[in-house]
This record gives sequence, structure tokens and C-alpha cells, in this order.
Amino acid sequence: MSDKNIFKDPKFARIPEEDWTQAPVDSFALQYDSVKEHGWYKNLDPTIEDLTHHLKNGETFLDYSGGTGIFVERLFKQFPTRQIGTVIVDSSPKFLRLALEKFRQDKRVGFRLIRFLKEKKRLQYVDEVLDLRFHALVSTNAIHLYYDLQETLQSWARILYPGSKVFIQSGNIRGSDRKSEEWIIDETIEAVHLEALKIVKQEKQFSVYRNILKDEKKMLEYQNLRQKYFLPTRPVEYYLEELKKAGFTNLTVSWKKIEVRVKEWFEFLSAYHEGVLGWVGGSEKVEAVPPDPSAIQDRLLIIQKALGKIFSEQPIFFCGWCYLTGTTEGQYPKRKAKTP
Ligand SMILES: C[S@@+](CC[C@H](N)C(=O)[O-])C[C@H]1O[C@@H](n2cnc3c(N)ncnc32)[C@H](O)[C@@H]1O
Repeated sequence: MSDKNIFKDPKFARIPEEDWTQAPVDSFALQYDSVKEHGWYKNLDPTIEDLTHHLKNGETFLDYSGGTGIFVERLFKQFPTRQIGTVIVDSSPKFLRLALEKFRQDKRVGFRLIRFLKEKKRLQYVDEVLDLRFHALVSTNAIHLYYDLQETLQSWARILYPGSKVFIQSGNIRGSDRKSEEWIIDETIEAVHLEALKIVKQEKQFSVYRNILKDEKKMLEYQNLRQKYFLPTRPVEYYLEELKKAGFTNLTVSWKKIEVRVKEWFEFLSAYHEGVLGWVGGSEKVEAVPPDPSAIQDRLLIIQKALGKIFSEQPIFFCGWCYLTGTTEGQYPKRKAKTP
């Protein structure tokens, strides 16, 4: 851990004075954070390699959608003495609170929450909460979640120096270069749903969940819920076009084959069981009452069985991860940040 504050601006507050910084660490954030132990989270390693080649000591990067801080944790574990500064930005106060727990004392790391602005029906732009410029930006496992993609990319361009690089990656991008045996990771969710339909219809122990299958309206509501958690995927050309429109040049695309242990993917999906298979036992978001704990147990069991069937009881499957990079040419005018 370095005591030297590498941020040059003396006015910069690493930890803002905001409510979320005082909240207790959240159990869901801790559950999400356990993915850092999973083999498939090696998907971060190529980005760490690219970023550390690009940045010189004393330079800074923005970890946009940095969540619980897994990327930064892994970066500093591999390169403990490198004087690279970063600000972790995220829309989830719970995830960011856990990141703060990890790096509170590390002067290389700052934190910013972007909030949803109800009246404007959008998330804050990063330059509305941060008055700094960076030498690079990283977005890992998140870009497929951005609903205002173009506006988000433009906000990235505004907080970067000219000639800075963006390093983006996601396992949820469609591409014609992907190998046919490689899954898009979130497309396993629809496969689990389809397999679960068969399991419930065929296996007597789950007969109590058959009634809802006749209710098309309800099943549609659960489909919508599923797609809120796991958004429909978009092709790589879409992302390239949007990056170009936002002013990024020298765009590159590459794909990596990532091995995923079925057991670990099940653990991950267990955190999101309501989104994956809400119709088994019901979701409070649809029914206005919470499901019975025994139904949640059944739901998890069905997810596990479905994964076994989809992957023919094999312990692993493969996914295609997409890595995109781009460069900023000029310097974009900044918005005025509202907080220090
Ligand atoms: C799957 S996590 C990835 C976290 C981290 N980058 C990693 O690789 O472990 C996705 C992150 O994106 C954030 N997120 C979701 N929707 C977002 C949006 N519209 N804009 C910015 N961040 C978003 C979430 O809060 C979450 O921290």
C-alpha cells in the first residue's frame, strides 16, 4: 500500500462525503464479490495486461462500472508497487461501499457514485461527479448493461486526455468471429428457462409449479423480469458504431475463449435466482408477495438440474469474451462537476 497520493489535484477528495460511504457492507455485494474466486473471472486478465502496458507510473485510469473493485484488487495484486491511480465509478452504492472497504487506506484509489436522476430519467454522467481527466478507461463485464450507451460513451470521451485508451470487455456481445462451441454467457439463462419448463412438466416433485405455465400473461411478466436482469445481447458492430460516433478511433476487436466451471456458474446464478427462474415459486416484483423459502430451494435445485442437462453433465463449458479498444483523438469540452 502506498501512502503517496498520486492524484495531483490537492482539492480531489478520494472518498466523497456521502451517505453510502457510512452504510454497513451489504451481504448481496459480498455474495457478488465471491465471483473473484471463480475461474471464469480470468476474463479480467487480458484487460489488466493491456492496461498496464498502456499506463506509465503516475498516470490514472477510470474503472467505470468498477462494482465491488475486483478489477483494481486483481491489478494491484499482480502489480503491487505500480503507482497507477484509479477512480472506481459505479451506479450501485452497495457495490461501491464494498470497494471502499477494500481500498479505504490506499491513496491510489478514489470512489464516485453515479446516481439515477429521476427528473432526467438517466444516470449521472461521470463528468457530473468528477472533475479530473484520465489516461485510460476500463469497463469490464458491464457495457451490455448500459441503456444510454451513446451518452455514456460521450461522457467517457469528455473525461479522457487526448490519446487516451478505452479498454472494454464483455461476455455478452454477439460476433460472427466467435467459435460455434462458445456460449454468450447470459444466453445460458434462456436455455436454463427452457430446460426448467421441461423439468417442471416431467418431474412429479415439481408439479406444484405447473399451474403458472398455462398463464401466458404471467409467464410474459416473468420473461420481462428475466430480461431486466439479463438484457438481450447486441452485436459487436453496434458497439463499434457507437464508439465511432462518440469520437473514438483506432478501434480494435478481439475474442478470447474463457472456460467456465458449471458449478461456479451455478453459484453466480444462485445470487440472481429471482431473475433466472422467478416463475418457480413467484417473485415479489410480480406477485406483490415474497415466495416461500421452500420454493426458493426448489428454484435453485431446478437451475442446477437444468445446467446439468444443458451441458450434458460436463463440469465445464466455454464462452467467447469480446475485448474492444479505442483511442480519443482530441480533447472534449468538460461539463461542470457538481461534487469535488
Ligand atoms: C457484472 S458487474 C461488473 C463489475 C466489475 N466491472 C467487474 O468486472 O467485476 C456490472 C457493474 O455495472 C454496474 N452497472 C449496471 N448498470 C450500469 C449502467 N447503466 N451504467 C453504469 N454502470 C452500471 C453495476 O452496478 C455493476 O457494478
